[in-house]
Amino acid sequence: MTRKASGTGRAEACANIALAKYWGKSERGDNLTAVPSLSVTLDALRTRTEVTFDDSLDADQLIVGGQQTTGRPLERVSEHLDRFRALASEQRRARVTSVNNFPTAAGLASSASAFAALAVATNAALGTNLTPAALSSQARRSSASAGRSLFGGFAELLADADSATPLFDETHWDVVMLVAVIASGPKDVASTGGMIHTKETSPFYRAWEVSAPSSFERVKTGVRERDFTTTVEAMEHSTRMMHATMLTSEPPVLYLKGTTIDLMHEVARARAEGLSVGYTMDAGPNVKVLAPEGSMTDAHALLERHPGVQRIIVCRPGPGASELFGAGSLESAARLDGRSLGEFKPGGPAP
Ligand code: PMV
Repeated sequence: MTRKASGTGRAEACANIALAKYWGKSERGDNLTAVPSLSVTLDALRTRTEVTFDDSLDADQLIVGGQQTTGRPLERVSEHLDRFRALASEQRRARVTSVNNFPTAAGLASSASAFAALAVATNAALGTNLTPAALSSQARRSSASAGRSLFGGFAELLADADSATPLFDETHWDVVMLVAVIASGPKDVASTGGMIHTKETSPFYRAWEVSAPSSFERVKTGVRERDFTTTVEAMEHSTRMMHATMLTSEPPVLYLKGTTIDLMHEVARARAEGLSVGYTMDAGPNVKVLAPEGSMTDAHALLERHPGVQRIIVCRPGPGASELFGAGSLESAARLDGRSLGEFKPGGPAP
């Protein structure tokens, strides 16, 4: 069904966490990835975005969490909008208003939910009627991991693939991902710059590229079979390989903090003692712990005990990105696992 484009679109998307990581761009350019990755979409980490194309604007505007945002974040949004403008022969500039219910740019994959929500909202605003795969491709060009957030449950993004592919929906496996927030400020090194630097300077980068596909295959088998041990052993290997590559770049890209390393020890010790838990870290110090639903309470207690953990966010496999209908859907603060998306005033001026 084709709907008339109103010039305004709204969408919501969840962040995702890679169980098998990607780090490094393909030689083929276009923000394609050098290695395959597999992620789970996280229901409790959400972005809501509204896009309005407006004749009266002479430049794109970006408002994140009520703050007018400029510089590289705005440029990335404009590049994303430019691709849609080209598809729709659209000249107007746009106002993009976005809220996260979690800290931005702290290794919690805010760019993944942000660009997945932006792709769906822009598609709605301009009536471009792209398929989910084409929306994933648009999101992927802005932030490779965002391509995976179009889909609920578990999704993969193969090396050099234009778009991510859904593998298993959010009902496939009763697991939780506990996000132990260690630091919530912006990270020191943005992931794109970090991966270019790693590729250029780490003698281990090549080893990472060679080993990543086998961790990916093991994670995929583990998830398909709902085999917890296979999944977490491969997941932990993938994250250690990625961080080892970062650490051995010159100067190093060091995202891990003392608390991160402590928790790696704690999780390994707990697993050796019989608790089903496994860790993974993205481009930041926060530790995400995978556990079967039945081990949630013990896994939560393990993280809670550590004084360096500021907050624990309980996530489960979440839905894919979706369009939101009606202005009211943005104004009514969504209840997300007991937390609110907070104040969201669509179209309102920045303070
Ligand atoms: O989406 P990007 O290009 O910012 O890269 C994020 C990469 C990691 O989160 C570290 C790993 C992954 O596969 O999500």
